[in-house]
Amino acid sequence: MVKKIENVTLVGTGILGAQIAMLAANAGYKTTAYDPISNAFTATYKKLYADLKEKGVNPLIPWESWETCRDAVLQETDLGKAVRDADLVIEAVPENIELKNKVFAELGQKTPAGAILASNSSSLPISKMEVSSGRPENCLNIHFYFPLQGVNMVDIMGGTKTTSEVMQAGYDWIISLGCVPLKVNKEILGFCFNNVWRAIKRQVLYTWGNGFVDFRDADRGWCIFTKMKEGPFALMDKVGLDVVYDIEMSYYNDSKDPKDFPPDALLKMIKRGELGVKSGKGFYTYPNPEFLDPSFLNPKIAGK
Ligand SMILES: NC(=O)c1ccc[n+]([C@@H]2O[C@H](COP(=O)([O-])OP(=O)(O)OC[C@H]3O[C@@H](n4cnc5c(N)ncnc54)[C@H](O)[C@@H]3O)[C@@H](O)[C@H]2O)c1
Repeated sequence: MVKKIENVTLVGTGILGAQIAMLAANAGYKTTAYDPISNAFTATYKKLYADLKEKGVNPLIPWESWETCRDAVLQETDLGKAVRDADLVIEAVPENIELKNKVFAELGQKTPAGAILASNSSSLPISKMEVSSGRPENCLNIHFYFPLQGVNMVDIMGGTKTTSEVMQAGYDWIISLGCVPLKVNKEILGFCFNNVWRAIKRQVLYTWGNGFVDFRDADRGWCIFTKMKEGPFALMDKVGLDVVYDIEMSYYNDSKDPKDFPPDALLKMIKRGELGVKSGKGFYTYPNPEFLDPSFLNPKIAGK
C-alpha cells in the first residue's frame, strides 16, 4: 500500500537533486535534502541562482519564490533522520551503479515500508537497483532534465515489479510539481526523451572526438537548425563533462559497442579539470561563453 505523498527526501543534492528539492518545496511538499556534504544544497542553490540569473532565464519557479523554497528545504547529513518519515525518496547521487545500489540498499532498510523509492539516474534503469532495496515493487525511475531552467519534462519508467499504484503515484506527483510526465511503457535505456538526446550527444562526440569537426560548428549547426540558444556541446558543459562521461560509459558497459565508447579527448579534458560550467571551463569558458555572443552565429559581425 502506497502512502499519500507528503514528505519528500532528496538523496544527493548536487545540480539535479537541489533543483528537484526546490520544485518539491515550491509545490508544498515537506522536503528534506540529504547529502554527506553538510551545505551541499545551499552551495548548489547559490550556483543555480547565479547561473540562471546571469543567463536571463525565466525559471520554472518565479524568482520571488526562490528564497522561500530554499528556506523550506530541511538539510540533513544523517540518512536515517532524512528518510524516516519519507513517502517519496528521490536518489540523485553520482551516476555510478555500485554507489546507487549501496544507496538503494540503505533506503530499503531506513525508509518506512510504504515509501516510494525513485532514481533520477540519466542512464541506469531501475531494474539494476531495485533488488538492492528489498522492495522492487516500490521502485521506479523518475528522471528530471534541468527543471529550474524550464525544461519541465520528466521521464517515468517502472522496473520489473513496480506496481501500477506506484507508477500512478509517481505520475501524479510529477504533474503536481508543474512538470510533464513522459511515461515509458517498457524498459529502455535512456527512457523517452533522453534516448533522443543521447543519440545526438553520441554522434557529435564522435565527429568532434575523431577530428572531423570543431565542436563550435556542431553547435552552430544545431542552433541554426533548431533555433535553440545552446548547442549539444554547450548543453554538455552544463550537465558536467564528468557526468556526461559516466553516462556514456554506462551505455557502453551495457552495449559493449565500440561506437558507444566516449572519445579519449573527453577524458583528457576531464583529467585537466575541464568539467564544464561548474569548473569555469569545458568546451567553452565561463561565465562568458562565446556562444552567447551574437557573432557566434553571425560571422559578418565577427568581421570574418
Ligand atoms: N547533471 C545533469 O544535467 C543531470 C540531468 C538529469 C539527471 N542527472 C542524474 O542525476 C544524478 C546526479 O547528477 P548530478 O549532476 O546532480 O551530480 P552532482 O555531482 O552535481 O551531485 C551529486 C551529489 O551526490 C552527493 N553524494 C555523493 N555520494 C552520496 C551518497 N552516498 N549519498 C548521498 N549523496 C551523495 C554529492 O555530494 C553531490 O552533492 C545522476 O544519476 C545523473 O545521471 C543529471
